[in-house]
Amino acid sequence: MTRLYDSQKRILVTGGAGFLGSHLCERLLGEGHDVLCLDNLFTGTKRNIAHLLGHPSFEFLRHDVTFPLFVEVDEIYNLACPASPVHYQHDPIQTTKTSVHGAINMLGLAKRLRAKILQASTSEIYGDPEVHPQTEEYWGRVNPIGPRSCYDEGKRCAETLFFDYRRQLGLSIKVARIFNTYGPRMHRADGRVVSNFIVQGLAGEPITLYGDGEQSRSFCYVDDLIDGFIRLMDSPDEVTGPINLGNPVEFTMRQLAEMVIAKVGGSSKLVHAPLPIDDPRQRQPNIDKARALLGWEPKVALADGLDRTIDYFRGT
Ligand SMILES: NC(=O)c1ccc[n+]([C@@H]2O[C@H](COP(=O)([O-])OP(=O)(O)OC[C@H]3O[C@@H](n4cnc5c(N)ncnc54)[C@H](O)[C@@H]3O)[C@@H](O)[C@H]2O)c1
Repeated sequence: MTRLYDSQKRILVTGGAGFLGSHLCERLLGEGHDVLCLDNLFTGTKRNIAHLLGHPSFEFLRHDVTFPLFVEVDEIYNLACPASPVHYQHDPIQTTKTSVHGAINMLGLAKRLRAKILQASTSEIYGDPEVHPQTEEYWGRVNPIGPRSCYDEGKRCAETLFFDYRRQLGLSIKVARIFNTYGPRMHRADGRVVSNFIVQGLAGEPITLYGDGEQSRSFCYVDDLIDGFIRLMDSPDEVTGPINLGNPVEFTMRQLAEMVIAKVGGSSKLVHAPLPIDDPRQRQPNIDKARALLGWEPKVALADGLDRTIDYFRGT
């Protein structure tokens, strides 16, 4: 629908009450847009958006993306999907449905409105990679029938749908492959490594290292990631992605644990637990494309991002 008078965009954020979604809503409101935040509150919470609820340009809609939606918007950020293994393995069938039916419903909406749509995809697309660091050209090594498959294959199928809507119907699509992102409003009990270590460290409990703790990850601070989302959405039509968004600086789990213990000033010991099934040894983005096409790269160092995240967890 064409609007007559204002230049403010109406933007739908699915999964808007989650960790990344709530930061995105906040940022879009700050840029003067009208934001429709949709969420079924499976892993998200109204607490994450409590500070936005009174804003005149903010609306919250409780809805499940596996059901069709009819609203009028100019842009769609599709983030709805549980993101941590504890959450997405809780109801794996629903996880696949959320990725696949959710993508079909949101792409259908974008098609009807001729709206631009961005998909929050994931580095899990690459599975347990043989190529390191991962470029967007790498097709991945994913187990199609394991406990992580509902998430990995669901997200892969969603990417397929996005590119078919582009090829077949000329839709304006953007696909971001997000690598580990952390920051305030992560769930305290979702098993993701940064929140896990901080919560354990603040409580003075032992910090659990899976396997030998030498597996590596790279961590992107949430503000950097949101900046990447917005640059991608605002990029020229031919920039569809998939495009890696993440911080290429790698740390081992042991290094991360030691940093957290030093920062919280606690006395936590390191304890070991068996490595989860299909857990990748290494995960590091190659972000050359994001640098070249979006002029984007992360700015917040892990030490600073950890300070802000620890402050958040101290206050909750
Ligand atoms: N945080 C990361 O490091 C990371 C990495 C890769 C990809 N991603 C992707 O980014 C997106 C956001 O992740 P997050 O870290 O904010 O996780 P999150 O769990 O905090 O947010 C997901 C949100 O989606 C909502 N949701 C789940 N199923 C839904 C459904 N069927 N209908 C409507 N809402 C639904 C949840 O209630 C929650 O608010 C996800 O799609 C995730 O796969 C995140």
